[in-house]
Amino acid sequence: MAILEIRKFNEPILRKRAKEARKVDKEVRKLIVDMAQTMKKGQGIGLAAPQIGVLRRVIVVQAQRILGLINPKIVKKSREKGKDIEGCLSFPGIFLEIKRAKEIEVKALDINGKKIELKAKGLLARVIQHEIDHLNGILFINRLGIIDKIRFKLKYRGFS
Ligand code: NI
Repeated sequence: MAILEIRKFNEPILRKRAKEARKVDKEVRKLIVDMAQTMKKGQGIGLAAPQIGVLRRVIVVQAQRILGLINPKIVKKSREKGKDIEGCLSFPGIFLEIKRAKEIEVKALDINGKKIELKAKGLLARVIQHEIDHLNGILFINRLGIIDKIRFKLKYRGFS
């Protein structure tokens, strides 16, 4: 197990699209264990592999227990959206109100390489959407509405 360094907002790797994991092998399982440890240490509730410098489609999220999801894909999204405050381990000390779908359905592989389908709502749905965004090089600041984006740019020069 290892605590890994979390990449910060200005690092180009955070803007890149991550590649699918071809299989769930020992390496992927170790990655998930290390990510779970790193997330816990940072007191986060979600972490995506690009945030620790690995361009693979792997995320960990805090549910009742920590879930590792490989190649996660949102297959259904509720039309209904909600706004809530989010943080991101790559943006220490920054909290932003972001609008996201309230309910989602996700397909992924679990740590054993088994296909799973998962329904999530509320905070868990929000975290999963945030982490899958990371796999596509999208950061939460990219999800701000136009007015909030201008406010953010004025307040935090150099962050965007
Ligand atoms: Ni994040």
